[in-house]
Amino acid sequence: MSEHILVDRPSDHDGRVQVIRFNRPEKKNAITQDMYAAMVEALRSGDADDGVRVHVFLGTAECFTAGNDLQDFLSYAINGRMSEGHVGQFLKQLAMTKKPMLAGVDGLAIGIGTTMHFHCDMTFATPRSQFRAPFVDLGLVPEAGSSLLGPATMGHQRAFALLAAGAGFSAQEAADAGLIHKVVPVEAIESQTLAAAADIASKPPQAMQIARNLLRGGQRDAVLQRIEEETALFSDRLTSPEARSAFEAFMARHS
Ligand code: COA
Repeated sequence: MSEHILVDRPSDHDGRVQVIRFNRPEKKNAITQDMYAAMVEALRSGDADDGVRVHVFLGTAECFTAGNDLQDFLSYAINGRMSEGHVGQFLKQLAMTKKPMLAGVDGLAIGIGTTMHFHCDMTFATPRSQFRAPFVDLGLVPEAGSSLLGPATMGHQRAFALLAAGAGFSAQEAADAGLIHKVVPVEAIESQTLAAAADIASKPPQAMQIARNLLRGGQRDAVLQRIEEETALFSDRLTSPEARSAFEAFMARHS
């Protein structure tokens, strides 16, 4: 388990809501291999536990997550191809998780912090949130099935702006584009996200799972296949001179 991912099943929701919280604020909740592993474990064990009905992702004040740890990316760039590893497992797990996934975003949501919402069922975000996917700026390509789910969700032009041109979306733009469900005030982000989760958790769980599966199950195989294709390209790109110089430039600014 990683100290940077806190997993909790609050008793005020009868333990039916599993909260998975990014908790590495000193590094803007950048996600390491251990953190991916902890999230995979939480999603799998929550799915297997009849007591859990909903997963909820939360971050810390003004930061959901700054995405993959760039130091990890630089290590891949220097040492060779990215192995399947915990990142790949997490991306696939997002597509395979059976129970509803909600998210409450406050502040920065970068890289996977943006693309994971294509897999979430209801995301709430504060007005000061920013969604960004600077893959191409880093010499990389879109991941997490976003190259398939992005255009399907918001049309090619908005998906291109977000996922290729690296344009930041405000919370309202993300809501208008269908990436998230709703913009809520800063002081209400956790209470409203958890209230929505508790409401979903109070409904008949089998009917809920069937409904969710009807809504998104049909595309699961195609999404998993696209994740594999993206991961192969992403892995190649990690060792490209374009990517390496982008990671080194970031590290140089922070040394
Ligand atoms: N990986 C590793 N460390 C990260 C990080 C990341 N993705 N994002 C932020 N950090 C670290 C910084 O290195 C810094 O650590 P330090 O204090 O030990 O130097 C700390 O978090 C604070 O970041 P800083 O850049 O000083 O804060 P900021 O408010 O000026 O900017 C961001 C915040 C998130 C906009 C900026 O850090 C950033 O652009 N991060 C990279 C995001 C990214 O490209 N993610 C990958 C997407 S695929």
